[in-house]
Amino acid sequence: MRIERLNLARFRSFTAVEWRPEPGINLITGDNGAGKTSLLEAAHLLAHGRSFRGSVRDGLIQNGQADLEVFAQWGERHGRSRAVGLRHAGREWQARLDGQPSTSLAELCTALAMMTFEPGSHELIAGRSEPRRRFVDWALFHVEPEFLPLWRRYARALRQRNALLKSGEAGALLEAWDQELAQAGEPIARMRALYLQHLAPLLARAMATFVPELGEPKLVHLQGWKRQEQSLLEALERNRARDLAFGHSSVGPHRADWRIDFAGLPSWNALSRGQEKLVALACFFAQGQAYADARGEWPVVALDDLASELDRDHQRRVLLDLAALGAQVLITGTELPTALVDGRVPATRFHVEQGEVRRLV
Ligand SMILES: Nc1ncnc2c1ncn2[C@@H]1O[C@H](COP(=O)(O)OP(=O)(O)OP(=O)(O)O)[C@@H](O)[C@H]1O
Ligand SMILES: [Mg+2]
Repeated sequence: MRIERLNLARFRSFTAVEWRPEPGINLITGDNGAGKTSLLEAAHLLAHGRSFRGSVRDGLIQNGQADLEVFAQWGERHGRSRAVGLRHAGREWQARLDGQPSTSLAELCTALAMMTFEPGSHELIAGRSEPRRRFVDWALFHVEPEFLPLWRRYARALRQRNALLKSGEAGALLEAWDQELAQAGEPIARMRALYLQHLAPLLARAMATFVPELGEPKLVHLQGWKRQEQSLLEALERNRARDLAFGHSSVGPHRADWRIDFAGLPSWNALSRGQEKLVALACFFAQGQAYADARGEWPVVALDDLASELDRDHQRRVLLDLAALGAQVLITGTELPTALVDGRVPATRFHVEQGEVRRLV
């Protein structure tokens, strides 16, 4: 998958800009605050329906403007060309996918596949559970056509059940929503477990490359309710009194998580900050490989501020590997990463300055 054109209008400091990245490695340089990250952020918004730096309302729309627009055109395997456009006004949004109006952000986000590694990515290892669920679900949205309808059905049932719990209404209606939640939730948990099983050897391989000192990793899925042998329906019933008391559903795949156990460490708490980043990076590589195994091509890979995130050797490794895999890579930095200086990894260079993206020759 490769982005051919990206247009931003009224997006952070960009009034209107067009960027045409090339296949392979693209390096965007520019001073602090020039808008490098914003370019990746705009593409990420189209691919994920959200930014990795807060919500649209938190400042993606250019100061003093009412809305923003982002458009991307990209090519897929077998030469298929696709396009997505999004106009976002903070609350309302409108989108077009391949020329047709789209009413679902979730549908939109299953089109363009892009993975972003940025300064906050170590949160995948050390942070809250939500990014870890999103990480697994991203893959399932892209490779399992049944996942999106199930996920929607589950989200709706959860909203309904929580509303009933808040109103303190037990009885038949609550039982009916328990059934519905369990019917959608069980297969979601199974798909996530299967995906993590598939990911485990890929993660082990990526970790052997990036953090061999941590030893063989073990991926553990926590499905969101206590015992693996207990059904979700049983778990919901067992926790009903407590859920009524607290007014929300305390068990289910919305509480799922996963973790990595390291052979050589007591827990992830013992990782250094740099190791957290490298483990997160290994997760990204494994994820990209799993996607490529299923879809026959790599997602677009964005690496924000690579040089400040990784030491030189790791930068070189990442860039050599990604170049060999044929992925389109979008890297930002204030300077040329040393791995690109000796010309062993060919790259197309761009410079961002005063709201313009200029190609360097
Ligand atoms: N809503 C907004 N309206 C106008 N300008 C904005 C808005 N949000 C951010 N900016 C400005 O846009 C720029 C954002 O730049 P961005 O974070 O993309 O820079 P960068 O090139 O990645 O910088 P760094 O090297 O520091 O990471 C900054 O100059 C910031 O002040
Ligand atoms: Mg930046």
